[in-house]
Amino acid sequence: MANAQIDRPAGTAEDWTIPQGWDRYTAAEHAMWDRLFERQAKMLPGRVAPEFMDGLDVLRLSKPGIPDFEELSERLMKATGWQVVAVPGLIPDDVFFDHLANRRFASGNFIRTPEQLDYLQEPDIFHDVFGHVPLLANPVFADYMQAYGVGGQRAAGAGVIERLSRLYWYTVEFGLVRDASDGLKIYGAGIVSSYGESLFSLDDPSPNRLGFDLRRLMRTKYRIDDYQQNYFVIDSFEDLLKQTLETDFGPIYAELAGAPDIEIETILPTDKVYTRGTQAYAREQARA
Ligand SMILES: [Fe+2]
Repeated sequence: MANAQIDRPAGTAEDWTIPQGWDRYTAAEHAMWDRLFERQAKMLPGRVAPEFMDGLDVLRLSKPGIPDFEELSERLMKATGWQVVAVPGLIPDDVFFDHLANRRFASGNFIRTPEQLDYLQEPDIFHDVFGHVPLLANPVFADYMQAYGVGGQRAAGAGVIERLSRLYWYTVEFGLVRDASDGLKIYGAGIVSSYGESLFSLDDPSPNRLGFDLRRLMRTKYRIDDYQQNYFVIDSFEDLLKQTLETDFGPIYAELAGAPDIEIETILPTDKVYTRGTQAYAREQARA
């Protein structure tokens, strides 16, 4: 997870990495991982993209509890050439992009407390590793993540990170994908690592579910404080990678420079609408 305005804490390397400190996790912290893992692994089959379930085995390591990044990276390296490195929570955008462009996924090394079981503000190791790593074992998605990192390095140079970060948000974090029988499946890490949103994103009548459209999505605001009001549906990981690699983002940034943002719940006449959401959940939360 990236954030532009922070200083490098003492004890971190130049690239903001720190030792994971696997030996320092307590039994309670390992138990928290196992509890979250079991709960999600049980509810996700049938809801999540099959590529995610295939990748989940990469997390089943020789020791139970929180994955040891050394062993995890060895496994992942064999599958797709990726590694997982520990960082102290949020890191600057350029560091985050540099890691991705070099096939390194930066993960927080702390785990949530029992009080934060279903909601926490900063992504923990369960979100980062359970949510993101299984798809990094998929060759196509692994290439997409690297392409995003390279795109991020370019966007940072052009001062248009905000636009590109919406692509990350609406795919890597909160994406849905169409399946063979025209049903929807989840794959975004923010959804798959959340029990509540794994249900809400597919079953609840509130949110809009709209076809993926790169330009449109880069103009669309998003919320960081609650379940999404919009989900965008890709046709396949292959198509997402193809569009990312074949699109020249420079002209799009120029074209969108003067375009107004699209409000979160707006549906455009040009949208491919899978679900026209009632937005009842968001309204109820706003009233509460
Ligand atoms: Fe994430």
